[in-house]
Amino acid sequence: MENQKNPYRIYLREDQIPTQYYNLRADMPEPPEPMRLPDGTVAQFEHLAPVFADELVRQELDNETRYVDIPEGIREMYKVYRPSPLCRAYNLEKALGTPAKIYYKFEGNNTSGSHKLNSALAQAYYAHEQGLTTITTETGAGQWGTALSEAAAHYGLNCDVFMVRASYEQKPFRRSVMQTFGAQVTPSPSQETEIGRKMYADEANRSGSLGTAISEAVERALHVPENKGRYQLGSVLNQVVLHQSIIGLESLAAFDELGEYPDVVIGCAGGGSNLGGLIAPFMRDKLTGEKPDTRFIAVEPASCPSLTRGRYAYDFADTGQTCPLVKMYTLGNGFIPSPDHAGGLRYHGMSPIISKLKHDGYLDAVSVKQTDVFAAAEEFAKLETILPAPESAHAICVAMEEARKCAETGEEKVILFGLTGTGYFDMTAYEAFNNGTMVDHVPTDEELERGFATIPAVPGIQDAGGAPVA
Ligand SMILES: Cc1ncc(COP(=O)(O)O)c(C=O)c1O
Repeated sequence: MENQKNPYRIYLREDQIPTQYYNLRADMPEPPEPMRLPDGTVAQFEHLAPVFADELVRQELDNETRYVDIPEGIREMYKVYRPSPLCRAYNLEKALGTPAKIYYKFEGNNTSGSHKLNSALAQAYYAHEQGLTTITTETGAGQWGTALSEAAAHYGLNCDVFMVRASYEQKPFRRSVMQTFGAQVTPSPSQETEIGRKMYADEANRSGSLGTAISEAVERALHVPENKGRYQLGSVLNQVVLHQSIIGLESLAAFDELGEYPDVVIGCAGGGSNLGGLIAPFMRDKLTGEKPDTRFIAVEPASCPSLTRGRYAYDFADTGQTCPLVKMYTLGNGFIPSPDHAGGLRYHGMSPIISKLKHDGYLDAVSVKQTDVFAAAEEFAKLETILPAPESAHAICVAMEEARKCAETGEEKVILFGLTGTGYFDMTAYEAFNNGTMVDHVPTDEELERGFATIPAVPGIQDAGGAPVA
């Protein structure tokens, strides 16, 4: 092959791990909308600090600082598993007969199995620096819970994980990994919190959702003695996108070494953190006019289509409606997604940064059905020898589509996608695909309307359902 001179995998040196995170908000023509309290006032430090660690609140609210130093205490752990490789999918290119060059940034080569560790380490570090004893969180598929359990173990913190009950039962080994790292794992809805008991009482809610598990974890954090507990979230928030910018920064450095630059950047989007991190420096180059033509594609499941069919409105980040309001593409905090196998993409909302970029026309979004996703995952696995997480396979599916288009047009586009994790704990899903029992659920308009009805009215901002107040 003509470009065979580029290696299959590019590993940067340890001293090329970024020393600063990049804050994309500083270069956005308009920043994402601020968090608000239910009465419509903009959330300030003092509103958020009881729930999140202080430094993380500062990062959350900071739309101006372009580059944020990564403390040595975090970098020393990044060195254990980073830089992650930028891989060239030569085998996939050949199988697709495409002139496109397909690259993927592989974040599954650490013990937690996904990109989530990048933010988990940062969040646990800042909690430890503040002298806190306990961090709490939710987990759906289990990747974030695993990452935070590892990070908590490293910094000597207690870790309380509320795991969506369906996953808790379907993925006993994922639960065991967290317990091995010392975390306390509770199925959600549980009997241990007020909101958990309320949700559990209704049979329909018993399999749980990320929104419910978030509410439980926040409630737990607020009850840790001596105010020594804080809640940590693995996606959606600006701070998480900031930490994940390390993915994009390393990708850009590797492309620099190759003398290449992507024409298309593709990522799966659950709450938007890997996508926001992967695209960060490339989007910067687009926004500053240096590389205006790069295309960005968010890929979400057709079963939980917040970006493609949701409303851009203020909504609660959690089902219990205890968190502040976030302006985002949302299906409504009461939307219950079908039990799709990509658990990490079953969230009603989306990062405010990704939402704003989509709303302002800088980013496209598409949705894909899970049977197509698993077909792509298996083709990829056979060719590239990595068994992808179902979430990551959403990006693979669309990267393959883009490469096939290039085969038709003859364009030699450079395609970059994020391979966020491995799927070794997702074998029930692969099994369902292999034995033909996997079904595609696409919500009807009526189902979506029921979710939209749970979007709250916000005084002076929007009516119930999310329509802006004139
Ligand atoms: C492997 C993997 N990829 C992607 C995601 C989606 O999250 P985000 O959109 O925040 O990157 C998850 C979430 O759990 C995940 O586990």
